[in-house]
Amino acid sequence: MSHTIIAPSVLSLDYARMNEQLKEVSESGAEWLHFDVMDGHFVPNLTFGPDILKGFRKASDLYLDVHVMIEKPLFFAEKFLSAGADNYTFHYEVMEDAESIRQLSGIVRSQGKSVGISIKPDTDVSVLKPFLKDFDVFLIMSVEPGFGGQKFMPASLDKIRTLRFWLDEEGIQAHIEVDGGINGTTGKLVKEAGADVLVAGSYIFGGNIKEAVMSLA
Ligand code: DX5
Ligand code: ZN
Repeated sequence: MSHTIIAPSVLSLDYARMNEQLKEVSESGAEWLHFDVMDGHFVPNLTFGPDILKGFRKASDLYLDVHVMIEKPLFFAEKFLSAGADNYTFHYEVMEDAESIRQLSGIVRSQGKSVGISIKPDTDVSVLKPFLKDFDVFLIMSVEPGFGGQKFMPASLDKIRTLRFWLDEEGIQAHIEVDGGINGTTGKLVKEAGADVLVAGSYIFGGNIKEAVMSLA
């Protein structure tokens, strides 16, 4: 399997020290920046829109991993892609049917960008099985989406193992990304289970950025 990619979540960034912290992130070995978009409907919180993403595009050379926790991912796809998203991950739970899921995946890929699909803790991993070839990233939520700083849910480990087994079985090299409650201890568990992209917010920005990233890699 490929090496571990660390994706610091800018939800936990100290915005009063944004440039300083982004510089530390870029020197830490982290490769992706995880950008959580929340609409106040799909999740009970609000965060950033495409214009803020444009600011990150200017401020950082890192790969911009956009995770949209919104009800209308089709409507916003183009806006985030042209604002600088390298990967666009949307939620399975908001999609009407298999056709609309493949349609949106196709739109993102037709622009040469990476596309991901995410499931919440209560969604069974089996819903992803029909879409193994349609996505570059499978994002397993290990907390209820909406807020940083929550406790890791160990039930996500079985989902990761199952998904990695299915992908290997089909010879597909997609990323399995985990989001929520990742720290030095839980990071090790998700890597053992087969995840290769680790999102971490409070763990990375709550202390020494470089040390935290190195402890996850
Ligand atoms: C939660 C977000 C996460 C969040 C993770 O809805 O999707 O990306 O930033 O934060 P921590 O690492 O603090 O659990
Ligand atoms: Zn996220």
